[in-house]
Amino acid sequence: MVAENGTTPTDLVEEKLDQARKILRQNDRGTYTIPARGLYPFQWNWDSCLTALGWATFDEGRAWTEIETLFSAQWDDGMVPHIVFHKEDTGYFPGPDVWATGKSPATSGITQPPVAATCVRQLIETARDKETALEFGARLVPKIAAWHRWFYAARELNNSGLVVSIHPWESGADNSVDWDASLANVPVDEIPPYERRDTEHSVAEHRPTNSDYDKYLTLVHRYSNLGWKQSEIAPVAPFRVADLFVNSLLQRSNIDLQWLVEYVGASHLTEEVDGWVKKGKMGLQSLWSEPQQSFQPYDYAADQSITSISASTFLPLFAHATEPAQTQALVKRLWSWRDHTRYLVPSFDPTDPRFDSKRYWRGPVWAIINWMISDGLTAAGHGDLAKIIADDTRALIDQSGFREYFDPENGQGLGGDCFSWTAAMRLTWLSAQPVEAD
Ligand code: GLC
Repeated sequence: MVAENGTTPTDLVEEKLDQARKILRQNDRGTYTIPARGLYPFQWNWDSCLTALGWATFDEGRAWTEIETLFSAQWDDGMVPHIVFHKEDTGYFPGPDVWATGKSPATSGITQPPVAATCVRQLIETARDKETALEFGARLVPKIAAWHRWFYAARELNNSGLVVSIHPWESGADNSVDWDASLANVPVDEIPPYERRDTEHSVAEHRPTNSDYDKYLTLVHRYSNLGWKQSEIAPVAPFRVADLFVNSLLQRSNIDLQWLVEYVGASHLTEEVDGWVKKGKMGLQSLWSEPQQSFQPYDYAADQSITSISASTFLPLFAHATEPAQTQALVKRLWSWRDHTRYLVPSFDPTDPRFDSKRYWRGPVWAIINWMISDGLTAAGHGDLAKIIADDTRALIDQSGFREYFDPENGQGLGGDCFSWTAAMRLTWLSAQPVEAD
């Protein structure tokens, strides 16, 4: 259809994609991309990997640089940190002086959901320049394997096939309702006075509370006092949770690493990676709750299951780790969530009284989580629902901008603006024009 002013739907899509490319260029700091100006001025781990997918649509070389820069901050023990503080910026708290990890470049002391293997595989599969892709892939595979090895060495408890997160920020879903009970058990220590900076860039009501921050900081200081010796931290961490973000994305990455190992011919890693794939599936299966018909995180510090239901319950689909009956139950739940909110997928159960459509990870929609759920649904044969999620996400971005997150009830754009991974999702997963039904 051609509008009165002569614009076609294709022109409109091109305009959006142009805007998305512009955002990546604006957030580009040469060798890494910041998630958003003001709010997040450094390199974040999973943001960077997902943003590389966006770069690859118009500058493959820049996409590879993004991942290489992230891995240049990998610790000797294999951990890839959640933030790399390449340059000083006082606009963010807690900065490198608080983390005090003593690394160069300066980094935080925790990790984030591992998506590097999944993103590198996608970069290779879609590469126009296969030769360069193979070169980068071959260099990155041992580093990614070292990171996964670290997860199982430093964070797997009781040979469970599950790895624990020692801080809510490791899950990527910083302020999820899922962590409320676990966080309530974390004591608040005497910590040096501090000033938050996030509420200067974003509306305070949409951000975590001050008492949450006291706990977040207590954990950072405790671990810093243990000299950031990761294998000593996990068994005693006051926050010790097997969450579904890290475990599902690690399992998906294990599978994609299996593919990468084969592709680059790193056969010495085959047996080890096969072992992770097996135990990762076993671990996720152990988080299934038959009575709740959902996957539930496990609080190892309290030795009990976490019973709230967040969007992470759908992520085992992305990990190809669900049995058919579990897939059916998850699909049924998603359809029922759709009856409660205008846009899928709210980050938290909209039928739960704790649901908050505007507060960080307690209700709003994230484009990257939608991509993962949609991808998992497609693989499980539920393309209809996958398409609804894609169409919802595209509509949210096109109506409300490249925001950090969105209100699932009225579609309002929230949090940071001109957000890198939101732009990346528009450029990759959502680049095609929606097909209108007749
Ligand atoms: C917030 C999110 C986290 C993300 C970061 C940068 O802390 O919870 O997942 O990596 O912002 O976008």
